[in-house]
Amino acid sequence: MKMSRDHIILSINGRQHEIRGEHAFMNLSEYLRYQAGLAGTKIVCAEGDCGACSVLVAKTSDPIRDQPVKFKSINSCIQPVFNLDGCIVVTVEALASAKELSAVQQSMVDQQGAQCGYCTPGICISLSYLKEQTGGTAEEIIPSKAKNFLTGNLCRCTGYEPIIKAACGLVDVKESSLSKRFLTASQVSTLKGATQTDVYFGFNRPGLEPIEVWIPSSKESLFGMLGKGRLISGATDLGVQRNKGRLGESRFISLQKIAELKQAVVTNGLLRIGAGLTWDQVQDFLQDDFSDFADSINLFASPQIKHIGTLAGNIINASPIADGVPFLLVNEAELLLLGSGGKERRVPISDFYQGYKKIGMASDEILWAVLLPKNKLKQRVYKVSQRKDLDIATINLAIAYELKEGVFSHLKLAFGGVAETSLRMTSIESLALGRKPDALFVADCAKAIDLALRPLSDVRGSSKYRMLLAKNLIQKWVVEIDLESQQNVNEANV
Ligand SMILES: Cc1cc2nc3c(=O)[nH]c(=O)nc-3n(C[C@H](O)[C@H](O)[C@H](O)COP(=O)(O)OP(=O)(O)OC[C@H]3O[C@@H](n4cnc5c(N)ncnc54)[C@H](O)[C@@H]3O)c2cc1C
Ligand code: FES
Ligand code: FES
Repeated sequence: MKMSRDHIILSINGRQHEIRGEHAFMNLSEYLRYQAGLAGTKIVCAEGDCGACSVLVAKTSDPIRDQPVKFKSINSCIQPVFNLDGCIVVTVEALASAKELSAVQQSMVDQQGAQCGYCTPGICISLSYLKEQTGGTAEEIIPSKAKNFLTGNLCRCTGYEPIIKAACGLVDVKESSLSKRFLTASQVSTLKGATQTDVYFGFNRPGLEPIEVWIPSSKESLFGMLGKGRLISGATDLGVQRNKGRLGESRFISLQKIAELKQAVVTNGLLRIGAGLTWDQVQDFLQDDFSDFADSINLFASPQIKHIGTLAGNIINASPIADGVPFLLVNEAELLLLGSGGKERRVPISDFYQGYKKIGMASDEILWAVLLPKNKLKQRVYKVSQRKDLDIATINLAIAYELKEGVFSHLKLAFGGVAETSLRMTSIESLALGRKPDALFVADCAKAIDLALRPLSDVRGSSKYRMLLAKNLIQKWVVEIDLESQQNVNEANV
C-alpha cells in the first residue's frame, strides 16, 4: 500500500483545510457552516432537491479526455467531506473580491432577484457556474440556457423572472474568472499531490459501531480494500439515505480518486464507460453514438446532481425507476465487475437484477465499467414524471428498433416503473417482428401489457395510471414513427 494519511485535505475559498475524524465524516454543508464559519451556504431540504446548499467544486483528480481542472456546482448537503479529498471548493462567501460584489451578485441586486434570500446563495453559485462555463457571451447567456442552469435551484418567494433577468445581465460583463482566482497552477498541484496518497481514518461513537473510511488513490490499493466497506461514488443516493437515517453501514470506501474509473474509450465498436464517469460526462461521451439517450439526460435530476452522481451508482442502486437501466437493457450492455485482486467478470445487464433492489454482485466486487456495443438501431427514450425537471420517473421506457420496408426487423423495448426491476418486454418484441407500426400493432401491444405488467401504486402514480401510461407511450412512439416517415416522404418530394 502507498503512504497513508489519516485526514482529508481540501481547499476552501483559497485556504487549505486538514480535516480529521468525525469532521471528515460530516456533510460538506455542515462542515462549512459549523466548523469553517461559512454560514452563507444554506441547508433546507438536505436531499439534493432545492439547491440552497450549492457550492462549486473542482476535482484535481478528474482526468477525463484531458479536460483541464474546472469548477462544477454540487449540492453540499448530501456530500460527505471525505469524498472530496484533494478538491478545491468555492462557496458563496468567495464570489465577491476586493470588497466588490461579483458580477452575478451585483446583477441579482440590480434586478431585485431576492426577497427572503434563503435560496440566493445557491442561485448565485449556479449563475456563477453559468458565467464560468460560458464565458458570458450574448449567444451563450440566453433565458432558456439560464433556466437549464437553474433547474436545481428552488426559489419559493421571488419568482424566477428577476433571477433570469439577473442571469441575462451577465452578458459581456468583464471580471476575473473564479478559475483564474482559485485554480492557480500552485493550488492545483498542491491538491493534486494529495490525491496520490491513500487515506484511512476512523473514530468511535458511543453506543454505536465505530466509523471507518478508506480512500484509495490507486487501483492496487482499492483491490486490497474491497469488501471492507460500502463503496461510494457521487453519494447522491447514499447521501440522501444517510441524511434520512436509513444508512446502516459504518464502513465506507470512497472511489473518487481512482483515475482508471474515469476512463471512457471506444474500441472495436464497443463503448467502455468507466464507473467513475459522472452523468454530465456520460452525456458528453454518448452524444455521437446514442444521441437520443444523451439528450434525455437533460431531464435527469439537476446540474448539481449530474456533476457528481454516476451511471454506475444508478445501476447498483437498482431502483426500478432508474433512468439509466432501460436504455442499457435494450442495447444489451454488459457490466464489467472486478473482485478482490482484480479478478474480472462480465455480466449481461439482463442477468444482473434478481428482484427488488437485489443484484448479482458479491460484497467484495466493484462495478468497474459498463460495456455498450455500438449499433445502428433507432433509439427512443421516454420519461413521464410529475414535473418536467428534477423529478424521478413515474414510468420510463427505452426502445431500440429497426424498420425494413415498413415492417419491424428488430425491436428491443424495456420499461421502468412497472415492476420490481426495470423490465424487457419480450412479448412485445416477438409480436412486432415482420409487423407494421400501425393501430393494430398498438392494440396488440396494449394486450401484451395487460398480460405482463402489474405495477405497484405509490406516491408517483397508481397501478392503473402506470398501466395507462405504458400503453400511451407505445402509442406515442408509433405516432412519432408515422410522423417521421411522412416528413421523410415530404422531404423526398421537395
Ligand atoms: C435530487 C435528486 C434527483 C435525482 N434524480 C434522478 C433522476 O432523475 N433519475 C434517476 O434515475 N436517478 C435520480 N437520482 C438518483 C441518483 O442521483 C442516481 O441514482 C445516481 O446515478 C447515483 O449515483 P452516485 O454516484 O451518486 O451513487 P452513490 O450514492 O455513490 O451510490 C449508489 C449505490 O451504488 C453503489 N456504488 C456506487 N459506485 C459503485 C461501483 N463503482 N461499484 C459498485 N457499487 C457502487 C453504492 O454502494 C450504493 O449502493 C436523483 C437523486 C437526487 C438526490
Ligand atoms: S439543502 Fe436542498 S439541495 Fe441541499
Ligand atoms: S428569495 Fe425567498 S426562496 Fe428565493
